[in-house]
Amino acid sequence: MDIKKIVSEMTLEEKASLCSGQTAWETKIVERLGVPSIFVADGPHGLRKQKAHSDHLGLHESVPATCFPTACATASSFDEDLIAEMGKAIAAECIAEDVSILLGPGTNIKRSPLCGRNFEYFSEDPYLSGKMSVAHINGVQKTGVGTSLKHYVANEQETLRMTISSEVDERTLREIYLAPFEEAVKEAKPTTIMCSYNKVNGVFASENEYLLTDILRNEWGFDGFVVSDWGAVNDRVDGLAAGLELEMPTSRGVNDAIIVEAVKSGKLDETVLDKAVERILNITFKTVVTAEQKEKYPLDLNKNDEIARRIAGQCIVLLKNEDSILPISKDKKVAFIGEFFERPRFQGGGSSNINPFKVTPAKELIGIFDNASYTKGFLIDDDDTDSKLLSDAVKHASENDVCVIFAGLPDRYESEGYDRTHMNLPANQIELIVEVAKTQPNTVVVLHNGSPIEMPWICNVKSVVEAYLGGQAAGAAVMDVLSGAVNPSGKLAETFPLRLQDNPSHLNFPGERDKVEYREGVFVGYRYYDKKEMPVLFPFGHGLSYTNFTYSDISVDKSDALDTDTINVSVKVKNTGKVAGKEIVQLYISSKMETVVRPIKELKGFKKISLSPGEEKTVLFTLGKRSFAFYDADRKEWRLDGGTYGILVGASSQDIRLCQDISVNPTVPIVRPITLNSTVMELMQDPKGAALIEKYKGSAPLENDGADNLSPKEEMFVAVLKEMPIRSLGMFSGMYITQEMLDKELG
Ligand code: BGC
Repeated sequence: MDIKKIVSEMTLEEKASLCSGQTAWETKIVERLGVPSIFVADGPHGLRKQKAHSDHLGLHESVPATCFPTACATASSFDEDLIAEMGKAIAAECIAEDVSILLGPGTNIKRSPLCGRNFEYFSEDPYLSGKMSVAHINGVQKTGVGTSLKHYVANEQETLRMTISSEVDERTLREIYLAPFEEAVKEAKPTTIMCSYNKVNGVFASENEYLLTDILRNEWGFDGFVVSDWGAVNDRVDGLAAGLELEMPTSRGVNDAIIVEAVKSGKLDETVLDKAVERILNITFKTVVTAEQKEKYPLDLNKNDEIARRIAGQCIVLLKNEDSILPISKDKKVAFIGEFFERPRFQGGGSSNINPFKVTPAKELIGIFDNASYTKGFLIDDDDTDSKLLSDAVKHASENDVCVIFAGLPDRYESEGYDRTHMNLPANQIELIVEVAKTQPNTVVVLHNGSPIEMPWICNVKSVVEAYLGGQAAGAAVMDVLSGAVNPSGKLAETFPLRLQDNPSHLNFPGERDKVEYREGVFVGYRYYDKKEMPVLFPFGHGLSYTNFTYSDISVDKSDALDTDTINVSVKVKNTGKVAGKEIVQLYISSKMETVVRPIKELKGFKKISLSPGEEKTVLFTLGKRSFAFYDADRKEWRLDGGTYGILVGASSQDIRLCQDISVNPTVPIVRPITLNSTVMELMQDPKGAALIEKYKGSAPLENDGADNLSPKEEMFVAVLKEMPIRSLGMFSGMYITQEMLDKELG
């Protein structure tokens, strides 16, 4: 296909027309040149194809499809193969419906637990988010269906999402918010990127040349096209010039005419338009659904339901399990309480809302226990306690061996389009948990929620199962875990703080007027709680199993490495319990140098392994420069300080089982030029600078005199002096150093 030739044969009007949609979901056709239209649809955790009335908030009906677990759940699986399998299964549904591009995954960072859309995002950690995105994209794109990695970038809240400016410093942007996009673009090559609604540092993401062209294309080598989030275009011509190729949905011709006019008036260079059209056509021709795809990836909804159930089971996180109360044996008398038992909440509201072809509430599987019964306990659609429902539930709980309360957040609490204002469960559910636990010591709470909640009742209950929003088969998956048919193996992809106020973004979320300042910098999630040594309810990476794992024999193949080296780490992990299980082995790097303030540790590797009882496996990790580096905003590059780093391997961010130090050094040492505004200390640390001081110091009391010989007052004087700029040295010590002297002596 000679795309350049097709573009060269197009009229200006035809080219402009291709830069916006025909409808809410379709691109335009140029019939005379054989340019087809493609259909794009949400995403990310299932297909939302609207045929009749369309909207991007999930208000109108879409075709029945499989609703897979949402990203908050799938990230907890830490299982790349599983997510790729899900991607492939969703893609088969796209192919059956002639959908060329699935809008997702969303890889924004969970900056605050309040973000209404956290359920659609993976993690507070950029490494994990990046890896999950790669898996999802690879799974979908393997079938020939395209993806749209979203929302690029710094879109971490719903409040004023279409106008707010996210103010983020360069290092934070690179290390936390851009990093998952960078990983996915480089490793998985998504066909399209969806720019976000918001501004980034004052410039709309839809017309931000630095983000769309300098970083995305020039630095990372992105070769697909950028599509606007639905309605994100501010100035169409500025957007096109900055690197936004496709506007969605349709602008009904208005912006096409503006583009034509801009080219005619010389405001927009026609070659920019040509390039944009070329990029759009490139992907269009690649992703048109074909008969071969339909044959190779046939639709099988029932199989997808089974996959959805299996995935949901792998995502569930067992947060607490005192006295090994779970799993519940078949013959126990079990009281199930809570309306979610019959009406599960398994997905979030908004554009990702799928019309599931089937839903399996946990109640349908009540028969797996010999002696189980159900009472409602509370109403999902009401926050107030219904005293009759409550007293029935308390009585019911007290008459059984075990009570399992299905609690969670109602739809109205969290959704695309608005943020939460607190982290509590509805008051009626809290009261129910507390009252039931008073009479029934064996109380288990199962949670359906898209983001962390506070658990003031945690000490009253024996077990907590975090089921997140686990898709249409979530109810069945929970029953699999409660009964022990599935051994839980998920781990938290986000920290559960004790209280909302502890969260690092608390004072700066959702911002003031039209700005939200990301003032916590790189200290998002566990990076913050670790550094502040703050207790949390459940740490990042935490999750229990029905078996136990021991870690041993860490081995690192180099003790002294350069930043160009590949470092191999291996550890042994053994299942020492009685049942088969899966463990998520996590590797963190801790930097012991502080030329810039750094987190105590950062996730740089993870592996999910499956072990039979008594089985041991060796787990391998590979580390490279980026595992140790930080983004140096002054030099505009990733670099590392030479010195000692800790390699920490463990079962969670707060359960480190093994560690080993390694020395890593930059191939080219970074030398900061010494000027008259450098400190005296910096001069003293440079060997040539120390010699220069020695040469000119005369009788000035500096460190070279030997601290032992100094009086306490002189010691204070020297301490003050060391922090001064070299230019002030003369005034205080009589030692006049000029720029000429620095140039001459330091070379
Ligand atoms: C959302 C996107 C979604 C689009 C189309 C927007 O409101 O932010 O994530 O893909 O609508 O439905």
